[in-house]
Amino acid sequence: MEHRLEIETMGKIKVVGPQKAYGEITISGSKNSALPILAATLLTDEEIILHNIPNLADVNTMIEILENAGKKVSWEESSLIIKAHSNINSVLPYGPVRRMRASFNVLGPLTIRNGYAKVALPGGCSIGVRPVNFHLEGLKKLGIESKIEHGFTHSKYTRTPEKVHVSLPFPSVGATEHLITTAVLLENTETIITNCAQEPEIVDLCNFLISMGARIEGHGTSNIKIYGVEKLYGTEYKIIPDRIEAGTYAILGAVLGEKIILNNVIEDHIFSLLDIFEKMGVNYKMEKNTLTIEGISRLELSPVDVETATFPGFPTDLQPQLMALLSLIPGRSSITENVFKTRFNHVDELNRMGAKIFVEGNTAIITGVTKLSGAPLEATDLRASAALLIASLIADGETIINNVDHIFRGYEKLFEKLEKMNLKIEYSE
Ligand code: EPU
Repeated sequence: MEHRLEIETMGKIKVVGPQKAYGEITISGSKNSALPILAATLLTDEEIILHNIPNLADVNTMIEILENAGKKVSWEESSLIIKAHSNINSVLPYGPVRRMRASFNVLGPLTIRNGYAKVALPGGCSIGVRPVNFHLEGLKKLGIESKIEHGFTHSKYTRTPEKVHVSLPFPSVGATEHLITTAVLLENTETIITNCAQEPEIVDLCNFLISMGARIEGHGTSNIKIYGVEKLYGTEYKIIPDRIEAGTYAILGAVLGEKIILNNVIEDHIFSLLDIFEKMGVNYKMEKNTLTIEGISRLELSPVDVETATFPGFPTDLQPQLMALLSLIPGRSSITENVFKTRFNHVDELNRMGAKIFVEGNTAIITGVTKLSGAPLEATDLRASAALLIASLIADGETIINNVDHIFRGYEKLFEKLEKMNLKIEYSE
């Protein structure tokens, strides 16, 4: 299908640095909102229209899952029209779930709709161990019994008590979304989820579900209450801009920007990054939904100590990109990774470019160097790829980033946007 972008081969990028960024771009719709919202469309057979959807490899994987489950999905520019074209099929193939963990979130809705579902158990992941125990334990409280056989989760809906309380051991984004999406259609059941995630993408999912007729309270806080309803309806909804895409380009601007202007940025969603910029002395201005970053010599910026955390803390999904920036700031910085404690694949690659980063436990100690030098590199995951791209644009000489296609999972119209910022890269398969 022409409109689809999927990762089949692994390409490479050639970058000759150092370069300067100047220009203006608009941030796309949020990948991590689009994915759970698309999964939630399984809750109704009525038509759903979603606007501001980024055309990304992961979004197309979720569309493939919806089609396998019996939906008919079509693009109209950046909108998706989703209709039911057959009965809901709740037995899904291994392929798409293996490609993307977020696809596991269809398990609960499919089980509620059909009484039974079989979905592959997602495997390991290059950013660290990613179990689904919170999902399965929470679903169990909601009346869904699961057993794992031959790599698949077989789930059966039994009966849900009138009141359910799930207390998450960690505010997992995926588990919070999965449980909300399941509980909304449990008629006569009141579900309380405590210690839940508060990310803007959770709020977006809840607002979408409410527009379908769901009854939810407390989204955006650590306690969510859901009153299950009998039926959910069709709706039309526009998703929020991607705060991680915005943060990535903001960091890129802080490293090599003369002046870059980012439109469609919600300040409250990237507040933790702006707070770090403030401490570092980055020259930025946030006005309405536009973030402007003006270049300032890196020698004038200050090192910082940062910890990743769940929202409203600093997001793990910007940690590799920030590390690329900090590797060039005079003095000693540190980043402690509290969400995915081993998410440091990019460190060795940055060090191969001349960075001085040392990892101890879940903390990276970064001693700023005056320059990075181009090198052949290996990208391992989405955000690591973004970090290496930033580093390669500032490094002296030629960098080749191999296996770079991970980056298309999260950055829509990447080449077009880089070109608008006057950055030159060459891609080949
Ligand atoms: N965890 C468990 N058991 C579970 C679920 C999570 O132990 O059942 C642990 C994880 O191992 C991890 C922590 O809880 O240490 C947080 O994981 P979470 O469930 O919050 O992550 P996720 O839902 O799988 C989403 C994003 C990730 C982002 C994380 C953290 C989507 C589709 N993915 O993943 O995004 O890093 O939240 O904010 O929303 C990315 O976009 O590059 C990306 C990886």
